[in-house]
Amino acid sequence: MNTLQKGILVEGATDFTLLEYSVDLSGDSSLLKNALKRIQNLDCEEGRIVICLGRKAWDWLNPDWSPDGFSNFETLEGSTGYSMPTTQRDLFFYLNSNDKGDNFDNARAIDKELKSFATLELEQVGFRYHDSRDFTGFIDGTENPKEDARFEISCVADGEPGAGGSHVFSQKWVHNLEAFHSMPVEAQEKVIGRTKEDSVELDDDVMPDDSHVSRTDAKEDGVSMKIYRKSVPFGDVSEHGLFFLSFSCSRRRVQIQLERMTGATEDKVHDKLMEFSKPLTGSYWFAPSLEDLEQMLK
Ligand code: HEM
Repeated sequence: MNTLQKGILVEGATDFTLLEYSVDLSGDSSLLKNALKRIQNLDCEEGRIVICLGRKAWDWLNPDWSPDGFSNFETLEGSTGYSMPTTQRDLFFYLNSNDKGDNFDNARAIDKELKSFATLELEQVGFRYHDSRDFTGFIDGTENPKEDARFEISCVADGEPGAGGSHVFSQKWVHNLEAFHSMPVEAQEKVIGRTKEDSVELDDDVMPDDSHVSRTDAKEDGVSMKIYRKSVPFGDVSEHGLFFLSFSCSRRRVQIQLERMTGATEDKVHDKLMEFSKPLTGSYWFAPSLEDLEQMLK
């Protein structure tokens, strides 16, 4: 089995930096290849860097083959007025560590490597909030796969193109916490579909159809569309939210959940959470296995 990039399955990191670049894809790709090789060598135990490519950058570096289903994120328009915009770019770096300083040093080093031919379009610093809660106050990640199941769910299976790599989705959400917290806790729990204090799933008889859990706990042809989520709370008093980030064995798993959240589905039900938080960005990426990355950077 090819090797998943080591920063993906890290548990317990406290500090994060997310970087998105657009790249001039018209020139000689060896500039980008050499820069990414040097960026890979910056990687150290204390500050991990996950390298992710947008579809156009992938084709530029590796035109011969691509992972099944890997494509750009397209704007999603739901049926009840809720939508998710695309801001698809070419490169994404997910930095995680237990020290803001390591991420800062790595982010500056990445930028130095890329700045002559790429534009930094998004830079977001985030942090673990209390016991891994989102700013709404709910624990985020309870239903994430554990132990070995994390590999199966986050990595393309052996024998498929891109095996050992991961389909990545990123989406920056800005919350309206005043509106969310003005509701009684019981109503907040119905928006999420779990209890606030200890994250217990609501019983079927009280779980609303438009709760976040109801919209995202999806199945297709009897297969559960589980993904591995590593979302990052970000911001300050003026603007704050969640930088949603997921890793999965197929892009389809995420797309189904997004369609169900916006109500771009037959049942036309949107996720109630969308009434309290707004997605500002959205992109699909692929994080190649270490072996595939080495091949394509030759
Ligand atoms: C404002 C943005 C979001 C917030 C605040 C949020 C928060 C949460 C919370 C609190 C939970 C319950 C605890 C848990 O199991 O982790 C949850 C579950 C979940 N979320 Fe989100 N989420 C957001 C966006 C998304 C998006 C965009 C997706 C899909 C691409 C997603 C997919 C899921 C999934 C799959 C679950 C687990 C469902 C289950 O199997 O029970 N979330 N989220």
